[in-house]
Amino acid sequence: MSNTQDYVQWFRGAAPYIKAHRKKTFVIMVSDEVIYSDRFVGLVHDIALLNHLGIKLVILHGSRSSIDSHFADNKLESRFHHNIRITDAATLPFVIQAINEVRTFFEAQLSTGLPNTPMSGSELSLVSGNFVTGMPLGVIDGIDMQHSGKVRDIKHDEINELLALNHVVLLSNLGYSRTGEVFNLPAEELAGKVAQALKADKLIYIQQGITNGEATASTLSASECDLMLQDPATPSELKSLLGQAIQAIQAQVKRVHLIDPQVDGGLLLELFTRDGYGIMVTNLFYEGSRAASIDDVGGILSLIEPHESSGVLVARSREQIELEISHFQVIEKDGMIIACIACIPDSSARTAEIACLAVHESYQGSGLGNQLLQIVEDRASKSGISRLYTLTTRTSHWFIEHGFVESRDFKLPEARLARYNPERGSKILLKSI
Ligand SMILES: CC(C)(COP(=O)(O)OP(=O)(O)OC[C@H]1O[C@@H](n2cnc3c(N)ncnc32)[C@H](O)[C@@H]1OP(=O)(O)O)[C@@H](O)C(=O)NCCC(=O)NCCS
Repeated sequence: MSNTQDYVQWFRGAAPYIKAHRKKTFVIMVSDEVIYSDRFVGLVHDIALLNHLGIKLVILHGSRSSIDSHFADNKLESRFHHNIRITDAATLPFVIQAINEVRTFFEAQLSTGLPNTPMSGSELSLVSGNFVTGMPLGVIDGIDMQHSGKVRDIKHDEINELLALNHVVLLSNLGYSRTGEVFNLPAEELAGKVAQALKADKLIYIQQGITNGEATASTLSASECDLMLQDPATPSELKSLLGQAIQAIQAQVKRVHLIDPQVDGGLLLELFTRDGYGIMVTNLFYEGSRAASIDDVGGILSLIEPHESSGVLVARSREQIELEISHFQVIEKDGMIIACIACIPDSSARTAEIACLAVHESYQGSGLGNQLLQIVEDRASKSGISRLYTLTTRTSHWFIEHGFVESRDFKLPEARLARYNPERGSKILLKSI
């Protein structure tokens, strides 16, 4: 394929993501090691691009390695308790100085107007303020953590107002108490709390050392994160972020992305390509979702029966479901099958039919249909299927909203044609994956 075609394909492939991300809120934390690395210029460019694509951005920076070097330069000893730096009154000015230096550098880079880059002339409007209220960590195991603090409150309404005006909100890992004290906050935790307070669509950590040098795109559920937290082989940087990711996901942040900036443009690959680039933590894989087994046939039959009676779904016999059970995905809650979908490949194994999609009435409208479709699409694409089709009488708009298009000239695979009932007048919808 020529480069031009590659480019066209890539751009078309990115289109659904461009559309999906528009007007969404992303909280991005960048570690100071990345800010001072040669990857940073490219990253600034990519952040500007996100802003121009209509994404609402809150950006935070970390300061850990800069604080370390300020301490070393000034021959100060770092004291830690439970891996948290104890910031006392004597070292607080050095901590503030280090944080302000990172912030000023970060702010300056984000204000460059990006000369000599494809985003030349585009300027971000950055806004900062006292959006973070901190409070003392207090005394832990008899040790007073002094100016090491935790997040008390995020002024989310004020931040949201600024985001609506297309400003980019820039935050440092400092918090101020209601009594006027300054607290050094862990940047990863602050990013998590900001994302939770804003109910952000994405929380993104860009930090070195996450993947031990092996960058492979992966998707994790909260329970898979739990398993990785218990695994001694998981790098400690990754563990700390996974802990934040679980909390964020449980607090309704939709997705958390962990990006190790080994490749220039990793952020764009993660956000605008199907395969992604980093680690994505999501609640998409509803904890009760799983491949169906023969024991689920009864539950599936009870779930689809009302839709068969009303003519929305084609009637399927118990035998047919038993034969096709390996192609079904179900969601189970409290022992009951509350949603199901089938993805049945044809003999070429390049095309598959999406069939028998149903969500129990009490659970409709909470995203389960969407989750099941995404799960089977993801699996189908990984198994080499490039096209999905579905036949529907009353649900065409739902499928169209999920990327399907109506087709009048698609020829059904022979095996499917044998069971086709033209009297239903079903529409045939296709989706390339
Ligand atoms: C279609 C169905 C699977 C969607 O599952 P779900 O979990 O409710 O869907 P989601 O929560 O992901 O999406 C809900 C959105 O889809 C919309 N929707 C639901 N049914 C729709 C339909 N028939 N046509 C168009 N949009 C529909 C809802 O209005 C809602 O939109 P909103 O968020 O803008 O209000 C479910 O409604 C269902 O089981 N319907 C009956 C069986 C059926 O039609 N199966 C498909 C046969 S081909």
